[in-house]
Amino acid sequence: MVVMSPSHSTGPHPDDAVTRPPSPSRVPLEHRELWTKAAVGANTYDFDSGRVTPTIYERTTAAALRHDALNLGQGFTDHEGPQWMLETAAAAITDPRRGPGNQYPPGPGLPVLREAVAEDQRRRWDIDLDPASEVLVTTGATEGITAAILAFAAPGTQVLTFEPHYDSYGAVTAIAGAELVGVPLRGPDFRPDVDALEAAVTERTSLILLNTPHNPTGTVFSTEELRRVVDIAQRHDLRIMCDGVYEQLVFDDAAEPHHPILSVPGADEVAVAIGSAGKSFSLTGWKVGWVMGRAELVNQVLGIKQFLSFCSGPAYQWAVAAGLQDDRGFYAENVAGLQAGRDMLHSGLEAAGLRPNRAEAGYFVVADVRGLTDVGDVEFCRMLVEEVGVAAIPVSSLTVQHRANPQDELQNLVRFAFCKRHETIEAAMDRLAERLPAALDRLA
Ligand SMILES: Cc1ncc(COP(=O)(O)O)c(C=O)c1O
Repeated sequence: MVVMSPSHSTGPHPDDAVTRPPSPSRVPLEHRELWTKAAVGANTYDFDSGRVTPTIYERTTAAALRHDALNLGQGFTDHEGPQWMLETAAAAITDPRRGPGNQYPPGPGLPVLREAVAEDQRRRWDIDLDPASEVLVTTGATEGITAAILAFAAPGTQVLTFEPHYDSYGAVTAIAGAELVGVPLRGPDFRPDVDALEAAVTERTSLILLNTPHNPTGTVFSTEELRRVVDIAQRHDLRIMCDGVYEQLVFDDAAEPHHPILSVPGADEVAVAIGSAGKSFSLTGWKVGWVMGRAELVNQVLGIKQFLSFCSGPAYQWAVAAGLQDDRGFYAENVAGLQAGRDMLHSGLEAAGLRPNRAEAGYFVVADVRGLTDVGDVEFCRMLVEEVGVAAIPVSSLTVQHRANPQDELQNLVRFAFCKRHETIEAAMDRLAERLPAALDRLA
């Protein structure tokens, strides 16, 4: 077995799976096996070879390594999380007296972590959760998202989400046998158009997937926007899965602070919320996440989750519980560093002639390439990594529906990550200033 790590991963060029036109196949897509549908749903199916490609994030990282580019693509930090949390996890592994040991923890998660999640929600947002029945620990948010979609999206139904979106939503909706319907978030502000969301509801709709703070736009949904989505779900008898993995990364100039979905009155009737330690503590490789909500809904998600991974590493759960109980100032320090990185990236991109948004939260800004060039995001990212030495993600690869229309503005947006060391961002912006004009000339 080959273990892929960012420094050893290989794979096709970032645009391998997104530039080539689909070649005709003898078997219509709807009759192909599930793996094909999952890969098509996440834009990781290469129609020419009939093979699955790595995700856009891995392909971009591989391309960055190949071209010795600065990687503003994949959303992982290039610094570690709090040292004391690393030590807490390490001690839990090596000394069973200082942790839960190394055997299977309970499937729904270590009680100490479920209690810490419930206490954290109560302290920060006055949300009341029973740790025993209303918090379910998962292997990263990704497993919680998967279990929630499989639990709530019946085959043949439609699942609504705002596009662009996190790529697993498309894959898992396809695995569920449901259809993902995307409602675009439009620049320059990327606010959710809740009327358009409601207009997209049909008698086949089962589930709405929300993500706030949003990847990749950094939009923090307002209470009013969330309240209206909850109202739609209640009136049309839909479920909501709300992915909040960036909830600890909201900047002080956001129009409103983050509001978790479960803080909206009545939301618990229809919604489950997803959290994760990965972004909150800059420990993305730990993969500790959780699902929260009313006991009946969490129990339905458990029905799927306990046959995905069953459980995940007890030492990481143990250390995350300690982090949630007391972050020792890490959140504030982390957000301040990220906000400074965002500002640095924003002004560098603007100086290079791109039109970046001012993300309210998270790890990314989204920049419009129109005005600089007529080529789309995929070609722009290819040029950027190969000729400028900076890797970024074409936003069209985070869409399903809007990829079909080459004229759509979601084909002109590029995602840049600022969750990197400030010297990395600075060096990347220097490369843009020095090399982009000539690279653009060659592109013309
Ligand atoms: C919106 C969103 N949801 C979920 C995840 C995955 O979270 P985890 O690493 O906890 O599985 C990510 C990671 O980039 C993300 O951006």
